[in-house]
Amino acid sequence: MELFLDTANLDEIRQAVRIGVISGVTTNPSLAAKEGIGQLRVYQQQVQEIAQMVSGPISAEVISTDYEGMVLEAREIASWAPNVVAKIPSTMTGFEAIATLSREGIKINQTLCFSVNQAILGARAGSAFVSPFVGRLDDEGHDGMQVVADIVEIFKRYNITTKVLVASIRHPLHCVAAAKAGAHIATVPFKVLTQMAHHPLTDVGVARFAEDWKNAARV
Ligand code: G3P
Repeated sequence: MELFLDTANLDEIRQAVRIGVISGVTTNPSLAAKEGIGQLRVYQQQVQEIAQMVSGPISAEVISTDYEGMVLEAREIASWAPNVVAKIPSTMTGFEAIATLSREGIKINQTLCFSVNQAILGARAGSAFVSPFVGRLDDEGHDGMQVVADIVEIFKRYNITTKVLVASIRHPLHCVAAAKAGAHIATVPFKVLTQMAHHPLTDVGVARFAEDWKNAARV
């Protein structure tokens, strides 16, 4: 399973790139707003900077909710850099826009996916990626990871090439479950990435090895 970073923060992306574990980045209007970005031109600059730091897919989301607006915005977003992917929501209008854009060869990350049926519709419309939001499903008392597992199973059965990109990940166990479910990608907030790396026994082990080595050197 590949790992993407779910952030619009350049410092976090820089650090994750240095660690060498991420192969893409996902952003959305809320993550952009968190960085003080509220204008399309500024979002463009930020996404272009990210696209230079990471060679894999960088998702940027459309703001419009009508068909014409979504199509125009997605075309513009896709022109920002060769590795930029446009995010379109899982709505009837969104599926129509995905169908138009995918016919033009524009890669789409179908976002705000909360059901298997939405994933099937998006795949049929031509989404390159589908993003089930596991955390938000769990928040509502649903089993987010079961939705992921069902999408993976059905896509496999019908040889659907749309990649399953697990989003709205809240903790390290979500990552383990996404990998066990056979998801292609998990997009993780920076905090979760650090939680994935940390284990108290590793810290204890590193300290003990250093201490034993120091004591042996004294003899
Ligand atoms: O990639 C989508 C993700 O950022 C949503 O996460 O935590 O806002 O549900 P969250």
